[in-house]
Amino acid sequence: MGIKILGTGSALPEKVVTNFDLMKTMDTSDEWIRERTGIGARHVVTGSFDTETTLGTNAARRAIEAAGLLACDIDLILVATCTADDRLPCVACKIQAALGAGQAAAFDINAACAGFLIGLSVAEGYLSSGAFANVLVVGTETVSKIIDWSDRGSAILFGDGAGACVVTRSDSAFTFALGADGEGGDALRCSHNSTVTMDGQAVYRFATRTVPKVINEVLAKAGMKASEVDKYVLHQANMRIIGSIAKGLKEPIEKFPTNIENVGNMSSASIPVLLDELVRDGKIVAGEKIVLAGFGAGLTYGACVMEY
Ligand code: COA
Repeated sequence: MGIKILGTGSALPEKVVTNFDLMKTMDTSDEWIRERTGIGARHVVTGSFDTETTLGTNAARRAIEAAGLLACDIDLILVATCTADDRLPCVACKIQAALGAGQAAAFDINAACAGFLIGLSVAEGYLSSGAFANVLVVGTETVSKIIDWSDRGSAILFGDGAGACVVTRSDSAFTFALGADGEGGDALRCSHNSTVTMDGQAVYRFATRTVPKVINEVLAKAGMKASEVDKYVLHQANMRIIGSIAKGLKEPIEKFPTNIENVGNMSSASIPVLLDELVRDGKIVAGEKIVLAGFGAGLTYGACVMEY
């Protein structure tokens, strides 16, 4: 028994903040940000109009519609987020209510930028065991609410958004490899009532060393070679990190689609938003072998290989 993605969806807040906008409030430049990160702009929520719940609900609605299902067909809602407005109730329960999916179980997963990938692995476990038939996995973040907008070393990196997918049982297998390095956790922190602090170089080293390893591990588990992979849909943290991972895997950069230039790092929303864009643009088609990989605060990381 395996699983497959039935439908994807995403939602971004309307407001766009470009590097030139940031230059009005901090000592930085478009050139510096693009060179070091590949980011040109990011979407951010304004006032109380958009929240992680409204963005996540909109992404979820689109994924359910693309799957050809109704909210009443969803058995389980998993929400990956590290920027929930409230400690209680969890975002998954708020999205369940907004969707009118009262029959679905619902809970949150906090694994930062690897959260969506870890959510998919949880969905795979439940689907394979036969416990549920259709699982909605959402990654939704309002990182702009927890960053220090006066810290040019971190504020330039992040954006807000949500992505979702509906997964169901099928014959094609998803293979996962997951890990964590709790001892390195101080590199990226956010305490209650505080803002994100980051040791950028430590995070950079962690990502470029760990992600090629975990991708090779998942490919070995699946009995596949890197050259057989059609596309690598990676967490969109930084273009230089993605380039270094491609080099580490000895794979051409053309196999690594990105959207970071326009949306920045949206933590757990990065992978599902990119996946949705690629599916809707016809850039991922049925039968392709896709690797997903996430990494972030925790430190958490993981990869999965699947046939789309
Ligand atoms: N604009 C202009 N200058 C900046 C700047 C900005 N936005 N941010 C930092 N600088 C300056 C620093 O003050 C420093 O100046 P100094 O040499 O006079 O002290 C210089 O640029 C170099 O800073 P440094 O922090 O060493 O830069 P870096 O090359 O490590 O790049 C990051 C910083 C954050 C882009 C890089 O470390 C990175 O991408 N890390 C990974 C972060 C990440 O992806 N986190 C999320 C993971 S999920």
